[in-house]
Amino acid sequence: MTNIKMYFVANWKMHGNIKDIERSKSVLKLTNSKKFKNNKIIYCPPYTLLEKFYEKVKFSKILIGAQNCHHNHDFGPFTGSINSKLIKSTGAKYVIIGHSENRLEGDTNLQINKKIKSALNENLKVIFCIGEKLLEKKKNLTYKILKKQITNGLKNIKNLKNIIIAYEPVWSIGTGLTPKKTELMQSIKKIKKILYSYKKIKNVKILYGGSVNPKNAKKFAEINELNGFIIGGASLKPKKFIDIIKKSIN
Ligand code: PGA
Repeated sequence: MTNIKMYFVANWKMHGNIKDIERSKSVLKLTNSKKFKNNKIIYCPPYTLLEKFYEKVKFSKILIGAQNCHHNHDFGPFTGSINSKLIKSTGAKYVIIGHSENRLEGDTNLQINKKIKSALNENLKVIFCIGEKLLEKKKNLTYKILKKQITNGLKNIKNLKNIIIAYEPVWSIGTGLTPKKTELMQSIKKIKKILYSYKKIKNVKILYGGSVNPKNAKKFAEINELNGFIIGGASLKPKKFIDIIKKSIN
């Protein structure tokens, strides 16, 4: 194991029910084992399960997060929306912001910036997703895209203490495709360089997301500069999720 503290973010997307919360018992058990130490598991179920999940794990090491929030900080006439204050009231401590699936549905960098500010105002920790599309990668635009997403998303935010960057190449999400280890190392380097030149900050945590599974977790977890994973599909199956965790922390 190379990383002292690894984050394992379970992004359930639009999946899950009460029974799935019950099934996560085995994950709870794992967090109590000696081996688990001070690694972190953050479950991000749909909004409807946030409170129930929180009640289930509130005395454990497992933390809860939402998958998005509205860009308006105050309450207001936004039918169907959930803001950071509502998320906070469920017991959730984290929120994913800027996921490519939300960007695809219209989230702009400006809205993402507002969402991050709103979440930080509520003392929520932010998992800020960035990543290039396949065509952008092919055109060698990865650095440019990451820079734009980071500088716009973090505009006027001075303190990055409560922000974790999740690098999720869009082409690897749900596709079974992943970057080569060296490619991922280069992308992490790029992100660090951008953050340093933009904010003079060196120690921001960086996660990787995109088709993480029990077979590839170990090789990525060996990257010193990587602080963990955001896991979609494989996090819905406790056995797979546990396998990923075990392979990453051993
Ligand atoms: P995946 O999703 O693990 O199913 O590729 C990751 C994510 O979208 O966060």
